[in-house]
Amino acid sequence: MAFVPFDRPVRAAFIGLGRIYDLNVLGYRGNPDVEVVALVDPDQQRLAQRQADWPDAATFSSAAELVASGIQVDAAEVLLPVPLHADGVVEMLGWGWHVNLQKPMCNDLLDAQRMLDAAKASGRVLRVMENYLFYEPLRRLKAVVESGEIGEVVGYHMKMVGSGNGGWHVPWSSFEWQLEQIGRGRGILVFDDGWHKLSTARWLFGPIKQVRSWIGTTSFGSGIDLDAPTMIAWEHACGVRGVWDITLAPDLYLRSDYYTNDERWEITGNTGFARVNRCTGRGIQQPSLEVYSDGEMRGYHALDDDWASSFRDSGRHWLRWLQTGEGPLLWSGEEAVEVLRFALAAYASSAADGIGVNPGQVV
Ligand SMILES: NC(=O)c1ccc[n+]([C@@H]2O[C@H](COP(=O)([O-])OP(=O)(O)OC[C@H]3O[C@@H](n4cnc5c(N)ncnc54)[C@H](O)[C@@H]3O)[C@@H](O)[C@H]2O)c1
Repeated sequence: MAFVPFDRPVRAAFIGLGRIYDLNVLGYRGNPDVEVVALVDPDQQRLAQRQADWPDAATFSSAAELVASGIQVDAAEVLLPVPLHADGVVEMLGWGWHVNLQKPMCNDLLDAQRMLDAAKASGRVLRVMENYLFYEPLRRLKAVVESGEIGEVVGYHMKMVGSGNGGWHVPWSSFEWQLEQIGRGRGILVFDDGWHKLSTARWLFGPIKQVRSWIGTTSFGSGIDLDAPTMIAWEHACGVRGVWDITLAPDLYLRSDYYTNDERWEITGNTGFARVNRCTGRGIQQPSLEVYSDGEMRGYHALDDDWASSFRDSGRHWLRWLQTGEGPLLWSGEEAVEVLRFALAAYASSAADGIGVNPGQVV
């Protein structure tokens, strides 16, 4: 069934109103492409708090109650804990809703296939949002590289330092399901945050043909085993190689309005380099993008480098897409499966002492 664009504002429901709602909501506020008709969360306090944003929306403890109410929904903004993604999304697609799902899509290929099959069977669109692809410094980085300003790309690296000191408050309830994920071998750094880094790699240089990795563990007791120190390296089908190092510095204070991640992307060309200095947190407080070429350093001082803006723009992109059906979804369900395969290849490689694994062949 071909997608038919809407010729009126989309009737949307938020499913899950936890920590990340605060940023996902930015794409919806003041947006004529959408009418928020319902809010769903079993937590009554959250429902009451978020209702202040949308006084005309109806509130429900479950998506099934919303369906039973008869209120018509076109699209769901799904902000559920990851262990609930697969069953929740299959159910919602079955009700005929289009779905914009927070990453990571799900934990394994079987669940991913169930979700793709459900989208196909219902003729509805499944998008797995990736806000990093809407972060202006990263978009500009891609444009600089594609312009040839740093010559031919010869390699790149990404860096992530996790810290628990600084940033916004994350309620313990938001960590509880992460612990469940850790127990299933889907750690918070490699799999949850890592989804973003692997996505940017796929977006920058295309399909990946081989992954090698060394995933470590740092234990904080009571099942809190964080998946660092870790190194992951890969080669794209185009021949470019990338590497990502993840380290933990639990007591490092990092100024941040959001999570305390110190992140970088640095692409080397044969005549220069281009580096994004920060993203979620305010690590290096130089211009968020710097480009070195032919003996000169250029700093981009006026980019919209507030991480929250990437959520706003990702959300607006989705809601506009529903009005036009044109252009890439960033990401489609199928593209998200490629990101999942990339992560699964990293796990398989690490389990086999770092051998090269083709993400296309993981099962
Ligand atoms: N893009 C990013 O950078 C980013 C950052 C943080 C989180 N996330 C993703 O967003 C999603 C949510 O994360 P979070 O940190 O907001 O989690 P959270 O635990 O803070 O919020 C989840 C919410 O879902 C509610 N919920 C639980 N079961 C429900 C159900 N059956 N129906 C409706 N609501 C239900 C909970 O009560 C809670 O309010 C996850 O997929 C996470 O990986 C993405």
